[in-house]
Amino acid sequence: MAVGKLNAARSARALWRILRGRPRVPPSLKDNALLQVILNRRSMRQFKQDPIPEDVFQAILEAGRVAPSTVNLQTWSFAVFDAPGWRQKFGRPIPFRGARAVIVIADTGRDREVLDAFPYSPLIEYTIGVMNASLAAMNMNLAAEALGVSSVMLSETGRSGILDAKYLKECLGLPGHTVPLMTIVFGYPRGEYPPMPPKLPGEQVFFQGSYPAPDKDVMRDWLDQMVAGYKAGHLRSSFESQLQVYHNKIGQAERDLEEMVYYGGKK
Ligand SMILES: Cc1cc2nc3c(=O)[nH]c(=O)nc-3n(C[C@H](O)[C@H](O)[C@H](O)COP(=O)(O)O)c2cc1C
Repeated sequence: MAVGKLNAARSARALWRILRGRPRVPPSLKDNALLQVILNRRSMRQFKQDPIPEDVFQAILEAGRVAPSTVNLQTWSFAVFDAPGWRQKFGRPIPFRGARAVIVIADTGRDREVLDAFPYSPLIEYTIGVMNASLAAMNMNLAAEALGVSSVMLSETGRSGILDAKYLKECLGLPGHTVPLMTIVFGYPRGEYPPMPPKLPGEQVFFQGSYPAPDKDVMRDWLDQMVAGYKAGHLRSSFESQLQVYHNKIGQAERDLEEMVYYGGKK
């Protein structure tokens, strides 16, 4: 996998661009409380060991429960953990030593208990399950932010998400027609939020009329910032080696997922 190395000048320029990166909001709207929560949110990977009060955590869960979903089918489940519970189940701490963790699961079978409305359509069902459960995850994430609790969603770190879906499914004893998608780790932040990682410019992602061709310079700029930003945050690792972890696991994960989606895990 060739991500390429940056020379010192390119690296410095990329870091400077990261530090200058800010969400763009019209000044007239910048004090809106919800917008501030959304725009200032960051994935946090360092947590204090302070517990999250029960009422705060229940409010976060509730934000997930009431999220929007296709036909209001609520194609999700959430496995809820405190730190001892996670350790007991998985034999290690919650990733990044968070205080609480929620494994977000797509459930495309519960509604069939009462509703036999759709023909065999595993890809549609899976996609709908992922969409809905991800929206619920984001609701929890934003509710947490609003309550001063930080979080990070995980698909890989600590065998916590879609790349270890089969392992999680077995550990949790989940039924067919469920797919563990991600873990959200919650906790009070330790230290400042990191700078915003590089977000693609509006010109590259919004369009009216014809679809915008990928702009190689914009994408190179993004990649430079990813490489330099990752190095600045992980001196002993690199963006390339992080991608390699995904690369190494993705083939088996693809086969596991295919089995879950098409055969409910029972081929
Ligand atoms: C579905 C999903 C899975 C993720 N998996 C991981 C992960 O396994 N490990 C990790 O450190 N961060 C993970 N992240 C966090 C992303 O790296 C992060 O969202 C991205 O770099 C953008 O940063 P921001 O959330 O601060 O805007 C994940 C995020 C999402 C939405």
